[in-house]
Amino acid sequence: MNLLITDIGRLYGVNPEGCLVRCGAEMSEFPCVENAWLRIVDGKIADWGTAPVPPSSLPLPAGEVLSLRGGWLFPSFCDSHTHLVYAGSREGEFVDKIRGLSYEEIARRGGGILNSADRLHEATEDELYAEAMQRVHEVMLKGTGAIEIKSGYGLNTEDELKMLRVVRRIRETSPLVVRSTFLGAHAVGRAYQGRQADYVDMLIRETIPEVGRQGLADFIDVFCDRDFFTPEETGRLLEAGARWGLRPKIHGQELADSGGVEVAVQHDALSVDHLESMTDRDISLLQEHLASRSTKGAGWLIPTALPGTSFFLGMPFAPGRRIIDAGLPLAIASDYNPGSTPSGDMKFCVSLACIKMRLLPDEALNAATLNSAAAMGVSDEVGSIAVGRRANFFVTEPLSSLDFLPYAYTTPLVRRVFLDGLEVN
Ligand code: NIG
Ligand code: FE
Repeated sequence: MNLLITDIGRLYGVNPEGCLVRCGAEMSEFPCVENAWLRIVDGKIADWGTAPVPPSSLPLPAGEVLSLRGGWLFPSFCDSHTHLVYAGSREGEFVDKIRGLSYEEIARRGGGILNSADRLHEATEDELYAEAMQRVHEVMLKGTGAIEIKSGYGLNTEDELKMLRVVRRIRETSPLVVRSTFLGAHAVGRAYQGRQADYVDMLIRETIPEVGRQGLADFIDVFCDRDFFTPEETGRLLEAGARWGLRPKIHGQELADSGGVEVAVQHDALSVDHLESMTDRDISLLQEHLASRSTKGAGWLIPTALPGTSFFLGMPFAPGRRIIDAGLPLAIASDYNPGSTPSGDMKFCVSLACIKMRLLPDEALNAATLNSAAAMGVSDEVGSIAVGRRANFFVTEPLSSLDFLPYAYTTPLVRRVFLDGLEVN
């Protein structure tokens, strides 16, 4: 798709080409140019600048020029943590929570994740795909242009592979950038109740090699938390994943201080997510890891907050302000899933990050675009307006200020969405 967009009142997320992550104070600027134009060739950003459009970018055949009449253009939201392939919904548990049951009590009663696993087992691959695509369509129109999707409602080899095949089909058929994560260690499957060690062994012996052989996942995740998987089990699972080139993205420090950050650091994880129960020691570990990037060439490890989960479960929020003040990068993602976050609305997550985690609007927008792209290893493709990146972006009317976007926390400001330079609706 070739397109010249003119009369852009503000062009946001204009990162220098080599900028793949923003850390600490660098997050305080969500870079912007005013009165801009943007040229798209073959679905990618070919060039941009401030008005007037240089003659070298013209002429284009009729129909390939679009004036935004002062509208604002943002890089698509990138949602680096979702579980959006699932069957049915769990509003019964939502009401149980209102009545006072905790998330862990619901899980102990065999509800929660196992409830979704039972339903997923019954659903056909076509049914799962159709349901998931409705969610994909919903989040796409809310401005998401890249998404990570986890397995973890299969909890046996066959059903985990089924989920991952659905994710692959979404990747092949939707215009979003999609990354796939194996999360077999999300809970212990029904057949292994009371035999967690055997379940972990089964994942290592059977499921992970099969996922690896079939090339069905980019990443491996483990729910490393109190009453779920221990750091020791997590370490063994991650080693098994590493043999198939699966980099870790960890569910850690959600329900308790349970070693999730430490295990992420030890195993070169790309991200560690949740962090509602994060400690000062975790911050120090992440700072040391960041410093070792220059000395030992370690990869990025992006702490990722999921503010929608804290909101829906009525739990503490991850200490986003402290993470940024410690000089670390921070990403935010939705955690879209049927139990703890039945929403993939990234604009709302940006508002929550500001309201509940005290991020400034510029910081929250960097966290939801460039840094969340980095947290799924695609910030060289999406998350910025930069030459060579995919033309994935959304458009708003001219706003009174950037701050209006998180402030107007339920106003549907995302008016038009473009993926690979093509408008979607
Ligand atoms: O990320 N924390 C673990 N897993 C999901 C919840 C899954 C569910 O309840 O179905 C989460 O919040
Ligand atoms: Fe999650």
